[in-house]
Amino acid sequence: MNRKNTVGTLLEMKQRGEKISMVTCYDYSMSRLVDAAGINTILVGDSLGMTMQGYDTTLPVTMEEMIIYGRSVVRGCQNAFVVMDMPFMSYQVSAAQAVENAGRLIKETNANAVKLEGGAAVAEQIKMIVDAGIPVNAHIGMTPQSVNVFGGFKVQGKGEANARRVLEDALAVQEAGAFMVTLECVPPKLAKLITSKVDMITIGIGAGAGCDGQVLVCQDLLGMNMDFVPKFVKRFGEVGPAIKQAFQDYDSAVKDGTFPALEQSFVKSDCSDEFLAKLDKEY
Ligand code: KIV
Repeated sequence: MNRKNTVGTLLEMKQRGEKISMVTCYDYSMSRLVDAAGINTILVGDSLGMTMQGYDTTLPVTMEEMIIYGRSVVRGCQNAFVVMDMPFMSYQVSAAQAVENAGRLIKETNANAVKLEGGAAVAEQIKMIVDAGIPVNAHIGMTPQSVNVFGGFKVQGKGEANARRVLEDALAVQEAGAFMVTLECVPPKLAKLITSKVDMITIGIGAGAGCDGQVLVCQDLLGMNMDFVPKFVKRFGEVGPAIKQAFQDYDSAVKDGTFPALEQSFVKSDCSDEFLAKLDKEY
């Protein structure tokens, strides 16, 4: 069924107690598949720095790169609600910088919302972006752009003081106008409590089943990440080995001459044997 997901339809899903699905996506062909599968929301995550560009962190990703990937994703989907991540240092400097870059992401990709990391510390930025008419997905808990502060990708909200801080961050971003918040690597009972305390949608990643929805990184979900698999990831496919096998089969077929076969050749449009013999003599 063709039905575009919007802020309104997603909030209605929360109110009805229906779970919301989100997956990261970075290109046109994958976006078409995600959309056809009926996933509600796509995140063009700055995780593309790691999954698509091979960096160790998300920090090097630029606005220009986000825009290129984001445009391809938006062109591939009709129904999914598309959220664009704001890359590191595109919003931390000031609220004015944040609204300008959020505006660019929406204007130049035609996506539906932006996501930025941080709680109370970025409330001013969130307010100004929302006031400009751009829906905001906040992101709290383990915020990968702060990896150097955390000293690694670690669970956040452990212990009473930290749990209180994560809840207060959730309330601060809601107050600032965020309609959705990603809770990353937050202990499950705390994530459930936060979900019950806020009207905005909570999307969990490594935050248990008590959130309004879940997000996974596409390559993790599909089993394309051959190296490290975080504890919170469930592989719903083993696409990586299948892709590798297809490449190996292609390589062998090219080398042993079985590809292309007649079925893959334009036999009917070929020249007559007489003409080819003439060409052969002439040259
Ligand atoms: O960049 C990203 O993919 C994310 C998700 C992990 C939530 O922020």
